[in-house]
Amino acid sequence: MENEKGASSSTFKMGNSAQERSLPYVPDCYAVPPSYEPRDALDSKSESVPTIDISRLKGSDDERRGVIQEIRLACQSFGFFQIVNHGIDQSILDDALAVAKGFFELPAKEKNKFMSNDVYAPVRYTTSLKDGLDKTQFWRIFLKHYAHPLHRWIHLWPQNPPEYRERIGKFCEEVRILSLEIMGAITESLGLGRDYLSSRMDENGMQVMAVNCYPPCPDPKTALGLPPHSDYSCITILLQNLTGLEIFDLTAHDGSGRWVHVPEVKGVLKVHIGDHVEVLSNGLYKSVIHKVTLNEEKTRISLASLHSLGMDDKMSVPCQLVNDENPVRYRESSFNDFLGFLVKNDISQGDRFIDTLRIKD
Ligand code: OGA
Ligand code: NI
Repeated sequence: MENEKGASSSTFKMGNSAQERSLPYVPDCYAVPPSYEPRDALDSKSESVPTIDISRLKGSDDERRGVIQEIRLACQSFGFFQIVNHGIDQSILDDALAVAKGFFELPAKEKNKFMSNDVYAPVRYTTSLKDGLDKTQFWRIFLKHYAHPLHRWIHLWPQNPPEYRERIGKFCEEVRILSLEIMGAITESLGLGRDYLSSRMDENGMQVMAVNCYPPCPDPKTALGLPPHSDYSCITILLQNLTGLEIFDLTAHDGSGRWVHVPEVKGVLKVHIGDHVEVLSNGLYKSVIHKVTLNEEKTRISLASLHSLGMDDKMSVPCQLVNDENPVRYRESSFNDFLGFLVKNDISQGDRFIDTLRIKD
């Protein structure tokens, strides 16, 4: 076999990536660009990340106030928190992870039915970020599909494994209810009230499910599963079977920041603040920069549920948060605007949607 070590990303057409073929080496086009190094050079160690018992959102007024305050602090400092006592049954989480793994274990022919590089497709199976198009490749395989309202999309989802629709559907429904509860707490923490976005998110809101698979990598130091990025969403709720997620703590080292490993504890869900909550808070809350590292032996599966306003519904800075000291810091934008950005830009090289929204002083 010809050695593809020095191959460019365009060598690996869809369905033919190094990670799908379990190549025993990492081709050069997967090498992490030097622009990531300053951040990677900083110490990266496991430590505590904010963990919030959200069952208290349904408790007494005092209990709810306490949780809202914890959420506020976590959103300001990390743009990230973990949630416990979220009310989703462990069996629903386990079943969703297992059936997602089952999908990636299917023969290529079955998965390739969903193969697409069209970021507007409501269901698409692909690798890396934008297959073969971006400068750098990532050791990831994924299926992305719309999930709300479920009846509108579920018939487009894979029918194999046979339990896929039912189990992922159940997970999506439960996570969406949770997302509404958390968004209510977030808007309340900003002084906007818990229903500020509830009808817009409930009726027309988008839920995009990213079902990610990171196969074992022969040289995990060389490649990444996903590059440093933030999500466009309001919030992303994430379930994983293994560690690999790292978040960037902007406040560490007097503002130069550092990477923090997110530990895996069974049943715990992760909440990422996305670009649209950064806009909603007029910059008080930061969308969290995160990346995925790889491991040599095990396959990592994650389910990332991205929640936002409707396709064309624009997120803008609320007038309640604007005054002489706090002018509007972001332009308004929609999920559709993000998709337009994705077509034209290369996240693998550090392009960020939120940077296009900032209004310069
Ligand atoms: C994503 C993402 C993290 C993970 O899909 O946007 O950041 O752990 N996923 O897979
Ligand atoms: Ni992400």
